[in-house]
Amino acid sequence: MANTSSNKRRILVTSALPYANGSIHLGHLLEHIQTDIWTRFQRLRGHECYSVCADDAHGTPVMLKAQELGITPEQMVEQTRAEHHQDLKDFYVDYNNYYVTHSPENKEACELVYNRLNDAGYISKRTINQLFDPEKQMFLPDRFVKGTCPSCGAEDQNGDSCDVCGATYSPTEVKNPRSVVSGATPILKDSEHYFFDLPKFEGMLKEWIRSGAIQEEMANKLEEWFEQGLQQWDISRDAPYFGFEIPNAPGKFFYVWVDAPVGYMASFRNFCEANDIDDTPFWAQNTDTELYHFIGKDITYFHCLFWPAMLEGAGFRKPTGVNIHGFVTVNGEKMSKSRGTFIKGRTYLDHLNPEYLRYYFASKLNGGVTDIDLNFEDFVQKVNSDLVGKVVNIASRCASFITKRFDGVLSESIENQALLDEFTAASESIAQAYESRQYHKAIRDIMALADKANQYIDAQAPWVTIKDENKQQFTHDVCSLGIHLFRILMVYLTPAIPKLSEQAQAFLNDEFTWESAQTSLAGKPINKFKAMLQRVEMDKVSAMIDASKESLGSVQKQESPKKKEKAKPEVAKTGTPLEQDPIAETISFEEFAKVDLRVARIAKAEHVEKADKLLRLELDLGGETKQVFAGIKSAYQPEDLEGKFTVMVANLAPRKMRFGMSEGMVLAAGPGGSDLYILEPHEGAVAGMKVK
Ligand code: 2FM
Ligand code: ZN
Repeated sequence: MANTSSNKRRILVTSALPYANGSIHLGHLLEHIQTDIWTRFQRLRGHECYSVCADDAHGTPVMLKAQELGITPEQMVEQTRAEHHQDLKDFYVDYNNYYVTHSPENKEACELVYNRLNDAGYISKRTINQLFDPEKQMFLPDRFVKGTCPSCGAEDQNGDSCDVCGATYSPTEVKNPRSVVSGATPILKDSEHYFFDLPKFEGMLKEWIRSGAIQEEMANKLEEWFEQGLQQWDISRDAPYFGFEIPNAPGKFFYVWVDAPVGYMASFRNFCEANDIDDTPFWAQNTDTELYHFIGKDITYFHCLFWPAMLEGAGFRKPTGVNIHGFVTVNGEKMSKSRGTFIKGRTYLDHLNPEYLRYYFASKLNGGVTDIDLNFEDFVQKVNSDLVGKVVNIASRCASFITKRFDGVLSESIENQALLDEFTAASESIAQAYESRQYHKAIRDIMALADKANQYIDAQAPWVTIKDENKQQFTHDVCSLGIHLFRILMVYLTPAIPKLSEQAQAFLNDEFTWESAQTSLAGKPINKFKAMLQRVEMDKVSAMIDASKESLGSVQKQESPKKKEKAKPEVAKTGTPLEQDPIAETISFEEFAKVDLRVARIAKAEHVEKADKLLRLELDLGGETKQVFAGIKSAYQPEDLEGKFTVMVANLAPRKMRFGMSEGMVLAAGPGGSDLYILEPHEGAVAGMKVK
């Protein structure tokens, strides 16, 4: 269907705003590339589609890092913003504006949103008790407190959760707390905080999440949060804080997660003002414009509860869609600094062509929230086989004959109309795949067409017929059709690999729109074919991994939302499950021999009320039964476990946990989340057998 002005859509698209205290890495890139492909697709279809992003400038980690560097937060944020923007541009991620949340537009927009919420009665004040660093004279976000876990007694745990037993708690419950900032023992101090009345929006939110605005699997997840009950949201932080002061509240600042999403509005406003565009319809209720946010699953709570509630409460429209993606894993595991798979965008660019990554991610993105694995062998194979071996190969096989033997002009006739028709007819289903973010399907269908084009050329063998005086016209027709087919494939691939598409357009003297696939260049001149894409070599990949091991900049976690506001996210950065690398200390044989590993039969498995990560297991050791709380809830349903055999550490000292005694530990492998596998002995093993 052609896009006439009557069905021209007006769309605003955003990606989550990267924090201004760390570098762009593969986790970010998955999202920015996903967004960019969608945006480019809409533009190619002729729609009015804007995309904006910015650096997320505010908050305690940015403030402290700037202090550490001896510069002002403003200076640090501007440096990081420029670096982030350059990285993204070098991956051909094309935002209309890449701004920063520390901007006059954002201050104004935050104040407007807040004042409207306040006027409507959605803001209240309450005094709360918080840990305070007496040396640094500042309140401490949860992440800046460490101490002993109140549940299991493990030392050096975070202020809001324990990595050993999985308990979540308030930093005031931590034993022997210390400030990560100064090392001082925090004291408890009262402070008045401002709260946003999230529970008032429950009805609206329940309806909105089922309106098709978010993926069904995430809507189900949100239902769980509703079941736990929505809480008043603490939107203020005390000075010193790098952020915007709340109107009429000296010394109180907007929590970074308030001004960050408002930053979408501000970045767009900044762009619209410079380009004489009216942004009002993009935020007005009952508008026919569309608004989409692309985000990682770790920040769903902010975008699917707080943000739509803030928008609604302040009289603005809600997002048309929040498109949520999973995390990036590399070679099947969480990105790891020690393995060199925590790869920064810049390190990648130093070694590899950005379009390889764009293509690879496109071939894997399916519109869902499952994690996307970057497997380097698959990456090398796919890029070489698909892009170099199939697509570019079509042009390189046909172009030289056109140039050398047919004056660089394509034939007037179409040698196989049915084949050409098949290529043009695929337009709508491929468009539908892009539209629904099932890029993997678009790529699969395009590659199936590329196979057909290559089969056609193989069968016609123009390199043979060119030698036959009587078959010159036929050869011209075959090679011309090859070029037409190549062109259509490149039109379809344009959103994913825009640079290669640009090279193809220069070669074809053409300017693509999505409609170009419905026409051919019969009778038109083309240019001399130049090599468009190098094969990717595994040694370049290895060099990138080595360089990543060397260049470990800091990637700091931002303050996470308060425990009572949401279930704590498992990771802190969009698209990046950050791994805590184990320290590979050796142990003696004697030490190892002390560990009593036993085959256990899972006699019973059940959920534990109020535990985010734990399942309660009853393990049969052939006569003896032990209770274990295992952090495997993210990967297993209790009913899948009952009756299974596994391996447990049977002589671990019992630990008292909030939910009861845990009398051992089951062994599981994998990075975590849903990617966690309990160890199972081979058939024949019996409960209670010693593992050696
Ligand atoms: O999780 C993050 O990386 C945040 N900086 C994302 C903010 S998105 C939006 F709300 F601004
Ligand atoms: Zn613990």
